[in-house]
Amino acid sequence: MTTPIIKVQQLGKIFSTEDMLTHALQGIDLEIQQGEYLSISGPSGCGKSTLLSIMGLLDYPTKGKVFFEGVDVSLLSEEEAANIRNSKIGFIFQQFNLIDDLSVYENVALPLRYAQQPISDKKIKEKVDDCLELVGMSSKALRRPTQISGGQQQCVAIARALAVEPSILLVDEATGNLDSKRSDRIMTILEELNNRGTALCVVTHDIGYAEMAKRKIYLLDGQILGQTRL
Ligand SMILES: Nc1ncnc2c1ncn2[C@@H]1O[C@H](COP(=O)(O)OP(=O)(O)O)[C@@H](O)[C@H]1O
Ligand SMILES: [Mg+2]
Repeated sequence: MTTPIIKVQQLGKIFSTEDMLTHALQGIDLEIQQGEYLSISGPSGCGKSTLLSIMGLLDYPTKGKVFFEGVDVSLLSEEEAANIRNSKIGFIFQQFNLIDDLSVYENVALPLRYAQQPISDKKIKEKVDDCLELVGMSSKALRRPTQISGGQQQCVAIARALAVEPSILLVDEATGNLDSKRSDRIMTILEELNNRGTALCVVTHDIGYAEMAKRKIYLLDGQILGQTRL
């Protein structure tokens, strides 16, 4: 088997606040292979977002190891970790996190303008046009995020995540702010992207959406309760 994109071993995360310790994750072992479609589900507070943040190198575990494409993340500098985050991982959150002062086009172009290796405007345009096309937002390129619907904003956020051609999309409750029709559309787009080869890890408390994945992980109280595979 090839090197997994992400592998976590005996992962633990404790949050300490003034008056208490929260064991958010305990003894998590998980590998995500290239091209996989995985869901992580479980009730609110079971540790889904914490796990996704650690797998996305946005946060660090208090115990255990994280490997990204075989590299032990604890050995990386802040800058090296940021480079992986910016070039290999696409994040999609419940909040779309678009910049209201920029057009849809410029929002999607942003990660390309900050790429480590400079990219020509012509290449950027090709890439942005492709990504907007993939999510059905080409006709909205010149609008501001405030001038399109929530569902359309999430499509733009997906296009922005795709712009850098990430190895994996990490998705945290992407449909939390959307009605069911728009949510279904977002999940269909994500599924299509997976069919085109991008690994997909979807965190959700929605059982229906969790079931769409080819491999399903169930979390409870910070531990893996079980998993099923199609
Ligand atoms: N920054 C934090 N500080 C303290 N506790 C936290 C923090 N983030 C999460 N937690 C706690 O860790 C547990 C898991 O949270 P989370 O990963 O957000 O769960 P989920 O995404 O499944 O709802 C919860 O008990 C939550 O209150
Ligand atoms: Mg969460």
